[in-house]
Amino acid sequence: MPQESRPDAPANPAAKLWGGRFSEATDAFVEAFTASVGFDRRLYAQDIAGSIAHATMLADVGVLTQAEAEAIRSGLEEIRAEIEADRFDWSVAREDVHMNIEARLIDKIGETGKKLHTGRSRNDQVATDIRLWLRDAIDALLVQLRLYQRGLLDLAEREHATVMPGFTHLQTAQPVTFGHHMMAWYEMLERDAERLTDCRSRVNRLPLGAAALAGTGYPLDREMTARLLGFEGICRNSLDAVSDRDFAIEFTASAALIMMHLSRQAEELILWTSAQFAFIDLPDRYCTGSSIMPQKKNPDVPELVRGKTGRVYGHLMALLTLMKGQPLAYNKDNQEDKEPLFDTVDTLAGSLRAFADMVPNLRVNADQLLQATRRGFATATDLADYLVGKGLAFRDAHEVVGRAVWLASQRGCDLADLELDELRGFDARIGPEVYELLTPEGSAAARDLPGGTAPAQVLARIAEAREHLARVAPAT
Ligand code: ARG
Repeated sequence: MPQESRPDAPANPAAKLWGGRFSEATDAFVEAFTASVGFDRRLYAQDIAGSIAHATMLADVGVLTQAEAEAIRSGLEEIRAEIEADRFDWSVAREDVHMNIEARLIDKIGETGKKLHTGRSRNDQVATDIRLWLRDAIDALLVQLRLYQRGLLDLAEREHATVMPGFTHLQTAQPVTFGHHMMAWYEMLERDAERLTDCRSRVNRLPLGAAALAGTGYPLDREMTARLLGFEGICRNSLDAVSDRDFAIEFTASAALIMMHLSRQAEELILWTSAQFAFIDLPDRYCTGSSIMPQKKNPDVPELVRGKTGRVYGHLMALLTLMKGQPLAYNKDNQEDKEPLFDTVDTLAGSLRAFADMVPNLRVNADQLLQATRRGFATATDLADYLVGKGLAFRDAHEVVGRAVWLASQRGCDLADLELDELRGFDARIGPEVYELLTPEGSAAARDLPGGTAPAQVLARIAEAREHLARVAPAT
């Protein structure tokens, strides 16, 4: 119910930390509409850590006494415990996480609590909180991502010599090894990890000290606050510090790329589990059945990851659009940065967690993969390359093999099923050794150059990747 306007009545200054200049209470709808505590309470730990660092620094530069800073510290620690024990009374009237915690501090420790906000604004406070939160979120995501990469290395190693059809246009192209295919996924994730790590260093800068927008007259030691909070440095311009959300956009863009990668992988997993492909089986614990069709085992988890990719793209667009029209410096619009960011992190964390366990535990149907490789003339290029070795120009060899493929397709057989005499009919230089090349294994083994699909190359790349991971992300 909207509250009555009371121009004649005094506002209740006790209700709001900013109530001094107001002569009527906030409209109840407006109070609910502008409040963010419903979602930004997720920042409580960062808000408290930021406040403790700020108070510690204020005492160090003599703005607070050590005793005051200590009272603030212990009051905030108690509040943290209340929140974690679910004993904290969150209030919409107190708008956001920052004012809920500050008001509670004042309730608890009285006058000294009112000094915490010296030389600070919610503008630099909230920017600090989100950066701290996102930094931790990135670290947790990197742990999941590295776990998934390690799982892929194990799977790739197990299946380094298992042949399967490689596709272009989803048509059979050339034999590849299953391990090589898994390593393609690994490389995608490696770039993703680089992007997250790179983004992290721009997230990890301190806004505090910017205050509302212009800095503050108190002699704050920003470098000290930065050190206390583990930031790599301070934001260099106060206007930019309170209004910049590039770091959130950049992170969400990296997250969108990761989801795109997972979605591509999901699409392949879904195809490969279908009865028509039957290349792999997913662990039962990652699938569900149908309420009507008893035979069904549905790949729900990859399907959901593919489906969830859209919402992360949406969040990226939301954040870009949020920022595009904002004049300097802080605008309330920025309160809208949190939900997209939180949901991006949650969606990505869940998707990575699922893949890190599901994919390395999939079962490869090697026999089916081999049979599938034998259909679709996957070794036609090998025959052409063989003829080049016998002195034909590649274009002529291509033509010769094309005719051989035509004959085999008329017969409904593979190239390797044609008699030697029949092959010689296309070119007399063909000898019996050709059959070795026409096997999927021979074809894959021939692509023995760095980045190629030969089992030896796959093993070499796995070893390199293991060394790299041991260096950049030692297993804990
Ligand atoms: N809840 C606000 C946000 O999320 C905190 C900053 C509010 N600052 C202000 N001047 N109203 O952005």
